[in-house]
Amino acid sequence: MTPILGPGAPPVVLPREAIELAQTALKASFRACDEAGAVLKKHYGRLKSVDEKFQAGLVSEADRESEDTIKRLIHGQFPDHQILGEETGLSADSGGTWKALWMIDPLDGTTNYVHRVPFFCISMGLEIEIHGRRELLVGVVDAPLMNWRYHAARGQGAFLNSSPIEASRRTEFREGLFATGFSNSDNTLDQQMELLLEVIRKARGIRRLGAAALDLCMVAEGVFDGFWERNLQPWDTAAGVLIAREAGAVATDFSGRPFVPTYKSVLCAPPAQHEHVLQHMKRVSRR
Ligand code: IPD
Ligand code: CA
Ligand code: CA
Repeated sequence: MTPILGPGAPPVVLPREAIELAQTALKASFRACDEAGAVLKKHYGRLKSVDEKFQAGLVSEADRESEDTIKRLIHGQFPDHQILGEETGLSADSGGTWKALWMIDPLDGTTNYVHRVPFFCISMGLEIEIHGRRELLVGVVDAPLMNWRYHAARGQGAFLNSSPIEASRRTEFREGLFATGFSNSDNTLDQQMELLLEVIRKARGIRRLGAAALDLCMVAEGVFDGFWERNLQPWDTAAGVLIAREAGAVATDFSGRPFVPTYKSVLCAPPAQHEHVLQHMKRVSRR
């Protein structure tokens, strides 16, 4: 057993076999991102069909081909791992040792992609069971047109294109540049606008870039001082949350509970900024 403390994550002791699995899973994810990234580049600006999903945005042949590519590679190498993919759902549970689950968004930021905004990515997060608890082990987020590849393995720090990254050290709310997202099917939009007003008035600024996994990675990198969004799915958050935690950020839901990928709301920020945003959220929701 090797004791491992991830800076922004609750402490966990990882067995040696889990550390080895993390290394193999990272390599496999990099390969999957290379191939899926080539698929996304091939279709960019040349899409033939774009469909609207019920209350879930757009989907194109690029989303589907990217997911097929990733699933083929991951299943080929880890036949006993389960895969939850945005476009094809949950694969059968083959009951492997780790009860391993990959959460995959083959194209996060489809609206950007369709409109030719190059801010989109592939997101791959792997969760396993250790001592009866689910733990995020590996996360990779790859933005093929930006040439950004973020990755983290539990307890080993976070990286952008293989160089270590850290969450921001700015502690004052007024110095903070934040990111968020919202969906038009959300019935709390009015309340969220109140929070936006608070941020616009009191912080440095707010951005809505349109790819949640990348937003989380930009918190990890210290570009953004925090990110929050409701109604997300495990494939949007799993990888980015691990990367951000490994870079020193805290991730919770909107009431401050430590984030797990089944939660739909995420607030992720370095500790002092996390506290500021949480207080503003609480104030707004009491009104
Ligand atoms: C969406 C993006 C967007 C967020 C939406 C997500 P998709 O993912 O992450 O930024 O606001 O909630 O659904 O549909 O492009 O994979
Ligand atoms: Ca997504
Ligand atoms: Ca997607």
